[in-house]
Amino acid sequence: MTEKLIIFDTTLRDGEQSPGASMTRDEKLRIARQLERLKVDVIEAGFAASSNGDFDCVKSIANAIKDSTICSLARANDRDISRAAEALQGAASARIHIFLATSALHMEKKLRMSPEQVFEQAKQATRFARNLMGDIEFSPEDGYRSDMDFLCRVLEAVIAEGASTINVPDTVGYAVPELYGNFIKTLRERIPNSDKAIWSVHCHNDLGMAVANSLAGVQIGGARQVECTINGLGERAGNCSLEEIVMAVKTRKDYFNLDLGIETKQILAASRMVSQTTGFVVQPNKAVVGANAFAHASGIHQDGVLKARDTYEIMRAEDVGWSANKIVLGKLSGRNAFKQRLEELGVQMESESEINAAFAKFKELADRKSDIFDEDILALVSEESLLNDKEQFAFVSLAQHSETGERPHAKVVFTVSGQEVRGESDGNGPVDASLKAIEAHVKSGAEMVLYSVNAISGSTESQGEVTVRLQNSGRVVNGVGSDPDIVVASAKAYLSALNKLQSKSDRVAAQG
Ligand code: KIV
Ligand code: ZN
Repeated sequence: MTEKLIIFDTTLRDGEQSPGASMTRDEKLRIARQLERLKVDVIEAGFAASSNGDFDCVKSIANAIKDSTICSLARANDRDISRAAEALQGAASARIHIFLATSALHMEKKLRMSPEQVFEQAKQATRFARNLMGDIEFSPEDGYRSDMDFLCRVLEAVIAEGASTINVPDTVGYAVPELYGNFIKTLRERIPNSDKAIWSVHCHNDLGMAVANSLAGVQIGGARQVECTINGLGERAGNCSLEEIVMAVKTRKDYFNLDLGIETKQILAASRMVSQTTGFVVQPNKAVVGANAFAHASGIHQDGVLKARDTYEIMRAEDVGWSANKIVLGKLSGRNAFKQRLEELGVQMESESEINAAFAKFKELADRKSDIFDEDILALVSEESLLNDKEQFAFVSLAQHSETGERPHAKVVFTVSGQEVRGESDGNGPVDASLKAIEAHVKSGAEMVLYSVNAISGSTESQGEVTVRLQNSGRVVNGVGSDPDIVVASAKAYLSALNKLQSKSDRVAAQG
């Protein structure tokens, strides 16, 4: 019988740790629902003890999702583990993921603990967690840079205490495929009770080898769980990318000979949702989900593909959710058609009034843009102002004047806690003038660290999707806005980022 490869998605935990990628509870819930449709085996929904906000996210996801196991990260202490168990109470299937660093560097410099103390704490924490829940995963943080003898001792002990998954992180992305694969193999060979656990790989992408390392951990090391994120989202250079792992194992079944439970047709929708929610744009040449991943530009390739598809294609675009840009809705579409399309796209609105608000925005857009694509709908409903009328800042209108040889000038009307205000400024260009007009009133003092524009469906007729990343007092947030007018999209994105800066965060980082 073919063995199964477990796909553990950590977009909502490790992915979200990427500066600027933090998501609201509603956004996380929407992504969790898409991950469920994608049929990932385990969803790491967050780090319940890190903040009240994260606790709520894990709890809401645990209550909403039925077909995937929901997991919360926890440090190796009773409080974190109890918080994780509490947040996971409503889950149909739940897992606690405990982590504790085991490398000499992390133990000495970060934890300031002796190896003996770490050994005892790992054992004690696993025992405590195992008394609360049946499904326990243990991760020796910076495992790949840990001393092999010490790591074997710790992992043997936590398996004896009941950890049923052992995950070996390459926390800093230092590994190379052959060595990482052999590292997992050696651990499994040397640890006497290694067969009592499922072995898992968790690789960061600092040297661009996260996917290759993970696959080597599977093939050479015998790991049967891969931890990954949609679009490879994650701190620094990111995590191992889910879509690449899944399609490599599926396309090269002749080599890996493993089964997957993944509904691959949902990959692209998941990729778009994560990118639109976080503002982390997918590069066009990104494998599987990049805009060019299946585009054959050269004449020779086009000719070959037309004659026989497999001359240049190793996967079918439809299998990962690509289809020709379909006009799904237009000006004449009714509320029911709109609602049904939202459901098909995995967008769940909590109330009828929220659907009405979204439908009103859709009609507004359809008046200005004849063809409405799925991307437009997703962009429209991802605007915070729609999903949350409690937001402090909301866009109302904008007027700007720019002419060759003249300095552009903008007037922006927006609301602050429901009260209409206006700001006015000139600037280097219309976008600069508009954002300065908002700032002239708000005076946030935030520094802009990124500004990017993307044409949602690829042509000048499409909506512009703007991402603005702001930094203030050590916090980094992303705001995303979309509109057929990119100056308006920019103002919306700026206001969305200001809203995120307003929401206080007291999160504890999982690493560092
Ligand atoms: O990279 C890492 O070490 C982690 C652990 C917390 C599992 O994300
Ligand atoms: Zn990690």
